[in-house]
Amino acid sequence: VVRVAADRCIRCGACASLAPGVFDVSRLRARVTREPETDAERAASHAAALVCPTQAIEAPAVFAAPSAAPVFAALFAEAERVRWRMEDLPFAAVDQSVVTPAQRQLVREAAFSELTTTSATKKFLDDFADDVDLTRWISVWFYEETKHPHALLEWLAQFGESVDDAWHRKGRATAPFMKSRTGTLVTNIISELVASASYLAMARTASEPVLRAIGERLGGDEARHAASFFAFARRHIARAADPDTERRDALKVLYMWFSSNALVSHPVNEFYGRTDAQTEVAAIRAEMPRDRIFRAIGALCDLPLDGDTDLVALMQRRLR
Ligand code: SF4
Ligand SMILES: [Fe+2]
Ligand SMILES: [Fe+2]
Repeated sequence: VVRVAADRCIRCGACASLAPGVFDVSRLRARVTREPETDAERAASHAAALVCPTQAIEAPAVFAAPSAAPVFAALFAEAERVRWRMEDLPFAAVDQSVVTPAQRQLVREAAFSELTTTSATKKFLDDFADDVDLTRWISVWFYEETKHPHALLEWLAQFGESVDDAWHRKGRATAPFMKSRTGTLVTNIISELVASASYLAMARTASEPVLRAIGERLGGDEARHAASFFAFARRHIARAADPDTERRDALKVLYMWFSSNALVSHPVNEFYGRTDAQTEVAAIRAEMPRDRIFRAIGALCDLPLDGDTDLVALMQRRLR
């Protein structure tokens, strides 16, 4: 049985992006419209439970071979359904008295780490040029990822802070891309899940109400982005000549991301090192959903992983 705890839902649309027949987010909170009917839907509901940023979903662990069907139209529809607007955020009501300089710096760094989407978009359009389904989605992603620093900078503007074009251009430096398309997609699943957890931790710990509202919306968007890259990665694996090679690439990325002190030089990780707001950063880091990320990449690869899985042994054993 699949269930949603409505009181925990932040209506990010991640669940409906992965299993549109099972979840519906057209109302204020997500709900289950019907039980999954096929193994593919059961597996998608399981993935939704893992990607859900507030752990609001209960669904049995089911693993099933992915489908090669296009996903853009469904992802586009869900993105439109849950879209929030800048005018929903009451910037003029920002309570400056409760904000420390370190918190402002944290917000500025978070905004900076968003800017790399510009170069990533370019790379996606080039490297995945033959993938019409994905490249159409990138337009939605780029729009939403441009909105994120825009919202954070609007919040900072209330304190008289501004940035210039040079700052923006510096943030656009290329993020690492991999030869393996699955590797690139999985990097994005993980970084979106980390970004989502970070923004929601920021929302929970921020003393300023408008910043809390921004953190919740951005955290929701990032979770839906993770769901979207998950859908594309599943489709990519389904279409591959040798799916096991793709699965191994996925596990490699998971291993690299979490192997000791070798955190991938991804903007999401780099931003932790650049800020003085170490109390806030510690709170955010404590929320790192490592176990959930392992399970999610396991769901992608049809493997029951968890945070304790020895990935090296697994790669040697199962996926030579
Ligand atoms: S994935 Fe998002 S929309 Fe779905 S139940 Fe979780 S919080 Fe709600
Ligand atoms: Fe973002
Ligand atoms: Fe994102």
